[in-house]
Amino acid sequence: MAFTLRIKFFTLLFVVCGAFASAMSRMLDETIVAERHRQWMVQHGRSYAMQEEQTMRFQIFKSNLEFIDNFNNMGNQTYKLSINEFADLTNEEFLTYYAGYESSPTEISLKPKRFRYENLTNVPDSIDWRKKGAVTEIKDQRSCGSCWAFSAIAAVEGAVKIKNGHLFSLSEQQVVDCARTKLTQGCNGGWMDDAFKYIIKNQGVAKESEYRYTSKDGNCSREKETFRAARIVGYEDVPKDNEEALLKAASQQPVSVALDCSGHGFQFYSGGVYGGPCRTSLNHAVTVVGYGTSEDGIKYWLVKNSWGKTWGENGYMRIKRDVHSKKGLCGIAKKPSYPVA
Ligand SMILES: *[C@@H]1O[C@H](CO)[C@@H](O)[C@H](O)[C@H]1NC(C)=O
Ligand SMILES: *[C@@H]1O[C@H](CO)[C@@H](O)[C@H](O)[C@H]1NC(C)=O
Ligand SMILES: *[C@@H]1O[C@H](CO)[C@@H](O)[C@H](O)[C@H]1NC(C)=O
Repeated sequence: MAFTLRIKFFTLLFVVCGAFASAMSRMLDETIVAERHRQWMVQHGRSYAMQEEQTMRFQIFKSNLEFIDNFNNMGNQTYKLSINEFADLTNEEFLTYYAGYESSPTEISLKPKRFRYENLTNVPDSIDWRKKGAVTEIKDQRSCGSCWAFSAIAAVEGAVKIKNGHLFSLSEQQVVDCARTKLTQGCNGGWMDDAFKYIIKNQGVAKESEYRYTSKDGNCSREKETFRAARIVGYEDVPKDNEEALLKAASQQPVSVALDCSGHGFQFYSGGVYGGPCRTSLNHAVTVVGYGTSEDGIKYWLVKNSWGKTWGENGYMRIKRDVHSKKGLCGIAKKPSYPVA
């Protein structure tokens, strides 16, 4: 008898406390989120001109925060998310401002292209080109769709270091300003192969310090075009939809790749091995600077991004490798290419 009563008593207490606690936490949430939004605005130097803008951005911030908390609390993911400088943007806005890969029209290839690493055997289990001094600091494209220039330049920096032994930070701005084609349009997006073609034709590219990044479209400087700190003699495309071919290439040098970066998981990735979900419609470009296997036994590509050091693992992402789809996760194996120094 006493036992039953106690159970009832505790059940009642639990229900009441539960209701109280959840009401409390909802109330706290609004205040906490508002405070976090304020702190975040200070940290990122953000201000909004109008009260309506402030209200709208707060709602986006809150919904992003909820997404991140829910995701991290699921507890069974191979990667984590966190609030970063993109926290007051919807995913659509984020893609508009920070991606910039121009999906190519269908290419007509008359002759099979040369892939110099096709017969490579004994590919190592892992490689990290950072440890071999072939990767410069993480850079920041800011809100300019120039990812393609950063992807290409990182691959050129690596190729030149491997060939000549010197690592130079090279100029994305020169490529943004000068490598213009029908498809490649500076901050409006472009194509890594157009960057390689331009550098070959110009017989070199300037150092970062000689032709500085402005995150804006500029006129091509004829004077700075003559500052040739590094050159390449060609470029090759990795056979498409083939992670094994990508592995061969990445074992020899950093490789430019395009991928699909849509989704909150990419926007707020903060560490671990990214496992999607994602589609494969290419909209962003990055550079594969290594690969390996995580402590949990998950194979990954090591990717250098151009969204500053606060995104991801100090600016890098590990993304799942050897997936079921031939295109690779997020289409990473669809369109890789690399320069030849
Ligand atoms: C994690 O768990 C949720 C809920 O059980 C499930 O929907 C989701 O697919 C799981 N994710 C992974 C990566 O296992
Ligand atoms: C790879 O080997 C095949 C067969 O020996 C040969 O025809 C091809 O030219 C080689 N490819 C390269 C890039 O050396
Ligand atoms: C580029 O050159 C044009 C014509 O000389 C000039 O009107 C324009 O302001 C220049 N743009 C920049 C970004 O310097």
